[in-house]
Amino acid sequence: MQLTEIEYNEYLTEVTEALDSGGFLTVQNSGELNTMTIGWASLGIIWRVPMLLVLVRESRHTFKLIEKADEFTVSIPFSGLEEELEFCGSRSGRNYDKFAECDLEKLSGNEVHTPLIGGCDVHYECSLEYSQSMDKELVKSEVLEDCYPDWDMHTLYFGRILNCLREETG
Ligand SMILES: Cc1cc2nc3c(=O)[nH]c(=O)nc-3n(C[C@H](O)[C@H](O)[C@H](O)COP(=O)(O)O)c2cc1C
Repeated sequence: MQLTEIEYNEYLTEVTEALDSGGFLTVQNSGELNTMTIGWASLGIIWRVPMLLVLVRESRHTFKLIEKADEFTVSIPFSGLEEELEFCGSRSGRNYDKFAECDLEKLSGNEVHTPLIGGCDVHYECSLEYSQSMDKELVKSEVLEDCYPDWDMHTLYFGRILNCLREETG
């Protein structure tokens, strides 16, 4: 297995397609490590630097952790790890050690302390630059009804991409 540094926007098409099945958002805080499946994210330039925007609902255990964190990682498999994505997208870190339950491999990145998840094709190492909880008063009613029927709003986390890595086996 080899980790190679790549540009943040290499594999953009593959990454956006793969997010349909999910990627892993991993957060570490005060010795606690957790990962959850995400399907919504945005990659681009903000404040002149590459940025990865992720959305976390307030009900998630990840929310508690990321609120006190200053970094996170996102690891995206182009295929495979379906069962792990399903488990991490339906069970909470409040009740499960998902790394142990799914036997997730922890890989070290180059820029942040939070681990990456082995077996994924692309990894982003991010420093948390800014966050903002959504104001339900400002959301279009169609979106509110469709995505927030119980008002479990997202908080938006803007992670500056410090490093992007391609994982290759063999
Ligand atoms: C494919 C998929 C995509 C998901 N995307 C998101 C997302 O972008 N934001 C979010 O808050 N929850 C998302 N979820 C739900 C969380 O992964 C799920 O609630 C998880 O159990 C939260 O874990 P935690 O409580 O350990 O943080 C998604 C779930 C799946 C299966």
